[in-house]
Amino acid sequence: MEVKYQFKIDTIYCGDNLDVLKDFPDECVDLIYIDPPFFSNRTYEVIWNDGYELRAFEDRWEGGIQHYLGWMRPRIEQLHRILKKTGTFYLHCDYHASHYLKIICDDIFGQKKFQNEIIWCYTIGGKSKKRFARKHDIIFFYTKGKKWTFNGDAVVIPRPKTHMKVRTDADGREYQEKTDKKTGKVYRYYMDKGKIPEDYWTDIETINREARERLGYPTQKPEKLLERIIKASSNEDDIVLDAFCGCGTTVKVAKDLNRKFIGIDVSPTACRLMSKRIHYKKDDIVGMKYSIEELKELPHFEFQNWVIERIGGKVSQKKTADMGIDGIVPISEYGSNLPIEVKQHSISRPDIDKFETVLRRTKKKAGFVVGFKITKGAMEEIARTKNDDKFIIIPITIEELLAKNKIKK
Ligand SMILES: C[S@@+](CC[C@H](N)C(=O)[O-])C[C@H]1O[C@@H](n2cnc3c(N)ncnc32)[C@H](O)[C@@H]1O
Repeated sequence: MEVKYQFKIDTIYCGDNLDVLKDFPDECVDLIYIDPPFFSNRTYEVIWNDGYELRAFEDRWEGGIQHYLGWMRPRIEQLHRILKKTGTFYLHCDYHASHYLKIICDDIFGQKKFQNEIIWCYTIGGKSKKRFARKHDIIFFYTKGKKWTFNGDAVVIPRPKTHMKVRTDADGREYQEKTDKKTGKVYRYYMDKGKIPEDYWTDIETINREARERLGYPTQKPEKLLERIIKASSNEDDIVLDAFCGCGTTVKVAKDLNRKFIGIDVSPTACRLMSKRIHYKKDDIVGMKYSIEELKELPHFEFQNWVIERIGGKVSQKKTADMGIDGIVPISEYGSNLPIEVKQHSISRPDIDKFETVLRRTKKKAGFVVGFKITKGAMEEIARTKNDDKFIIIPITIEELLAKNKIKK
């Protein structure tokens, strides 16, 4: 059987995780965290906070919850297969599907392998007058074998003072004491020693608008959350895998904590962003090379992002997108900040006419049009606008983009 996705540590894979995981050997990773689309029936659309990357990704599941679960199950089965016997699995979800997913995980891992349902509480988000506001996510924690890593002491949090009296010992250290009523044994808790968190986490906020780590990815998770999970459930040099890694929070934190990482995401835009975040070479992302047929099938925004990046341009902010510009090329031999028009089909005469209007409106003398083919009519129109109106429209085909790097220069 042909192996397309060779198992390699410290690697980002761009592809459907089911295809990627099927190519991995049994029991090869120590820790898995996943944060799959939540079955929330929402389409996320954002402008990246660098202002240029127009992003969208769907987590709409038209066939209902059963369709979603049928989609998740084989992926969790593969994750269970590739997890080492000593390994740990975390599944991040919310009320939309958590109860159904728990049943699937119990089935695959075994009920006895369930360790925790972690309730991650946050404060931001909407209020409701019709019900109690929904302010938490759920993270299921499973293990695979009889032994596993749990470094509780690596993730201690400050010990909150209880109603018991705070005393001070001879060295000036504060403590509280509790007496076991049955045995009479006295337990002493030093306030500066901290405690292992319980299964509800209230001390980690979601990423707000001001957060420095915010990249603008719609469902980006805070690094602190991943830090707690990775520190508690792995050791240095262990292999940490995230099969829905989005903008790469798990991968970034694993790398910072001297773990090996594997990140998988189906979105090329997410993979590119993640590679930038961790200073990973884009050309080393496994699965990012496309054939013409694959490019035709890409969601339009992914196709557009791929083309524009390949030309060395920037995806438009919404403002300019509204003017009919998909992107701009900041510097080229024809001038600066020139518009790019991207079509996921052939460029024909009417496309050139429309683009000429865009050039007029934006007061630019030149611009780029990109499509799978440039029809004869379009070429004639390009020649005419050059002669009559002195506009320079540069046609580029996808074949040219695939074949050379020349255009980038
Ligand atoms: C909720 S987001 C993950 C966000 C991530 N935890 C972070 O901090 O950035 C879910 C991700 O799953 C990806 N995804 C959806 N279906 C996928 C599939 N079949 N294979 C791999 N990734 C997939 C989406 O592209 C999206 O980036």
